[in-house]
Amino acid sequence: MKATAKSPANIAFIKYWGKTDLKSRVPENNSISMCLSDLYSRCTVEFRKDLKTDEIEFKNEAVVKEKEKERIVGVVERVRRLGGVKWKARVVTENNFPKATGIASSASGLSAVTVAALGALGMKMSEKEVSKLARLASGTASRSIPDGWVEWVKGRGADDSYSKQIFPVDWWQITDVVGIVTHKMKKVSSTEGHALARTSPFYKARIQGMKEKVRKIKELIKRRDFSRFGRLVEAEALNMHAICMTSQPAIIYWNEATIKVMKKVISWREEGLESYFTIDAGPSVHVICEEKNAKEVAKRLKKIEGVKRAVINRPGVGARLLT
Ligand code: DP6
Repeated sequence: MKATAKSPANIAFIKYWGKTDLKSRVPENNSISMCLSDLYSRCTVEFRKDLKTDEIEFKNEAVVKEKEKERIVGVVERVRRLGGVKWKARVVTENNFPKATGIASSASGLSAVTVAALGALGMKMSEKEVSKLARLASGTASRSIPDGWVEWVKGRGADDSYSKQIFPVDWWQITDVVGIVTHKMKKVSSTEGHALARTSPFYKARIQGMKEKVRKIKELIKRRDFSRFGRLVEAEALNMHAICMTSQPAIIYWNEATIKVMKKVISWREEGLESYFTIDAGPSVHVICEEKNAKEVAKRLKKIEGVKRAVINRPGVGARLLT
């Protein structure tokens, strides 16, 4: 009754910000992402007869909030109910990057717990059903289930919203060089941010444009048109952050290093090193470039004041059972 899973973080090119159903995490719009090859979580779940309560351990983490543990217990509880099992579980989870800093730790962490818990009970489900289950823990976790380039479909409601592959891992050699700029957890969680999105006066306008953006990005990925793809990705990130900054209360996820990296990326581009930035709900910056430029981008990123690490990611596989 024990299994270990490994699951990647993912980066959204067209983002999920705002939900039509907060509790079931039904997004306001479809989103498009890529699984990351080198940033991931590993999680072991063991259901045991002798346990009185679920035990959650985060390896190598100084600060763990009660809410984070509750989310993991929520996954275990759902899987237990589906499997008709009463035993409590011991969960040990670890990331190879700092959590809650804009690198989708809830995506990798909670998809890993979902897959490990199902594996521990020997339960087999379709990829679609697993992505729905992971979505209930964290919206972006549903996008870490399929391999490669992924679309999370909004659907008609909680039973119909899931993620699927749109292009395989080897479709296009794009890299996401992540500039990690902090190890501190963000103050406002994504879940809180999603709930505030509607208070922005610009939210309606954002949502009206999403269908067309999703259509466009899929076409650009299909054509492997890097320049148009990059411009759209960057504009989309700024659009999402404009909603955060104009929510009430306002949320500013960036810090000084975030802005320094953004400005540098723009100037590198002007010099001929073509790269674009995107940013999730945190200060770390994802620099998107073609594989041939990844090492140079990483080298330059590391020289920027405030950048602690630069991690090169290629398109990666989704969640996997290791045992
Ligand atoms: C900013 O999945 O962290 O990364 O569903 O409430 O857990 P919850 O939110 P979460 O949303 C983060 C969204 C984003 C953009 C994106 O990846 O699409």
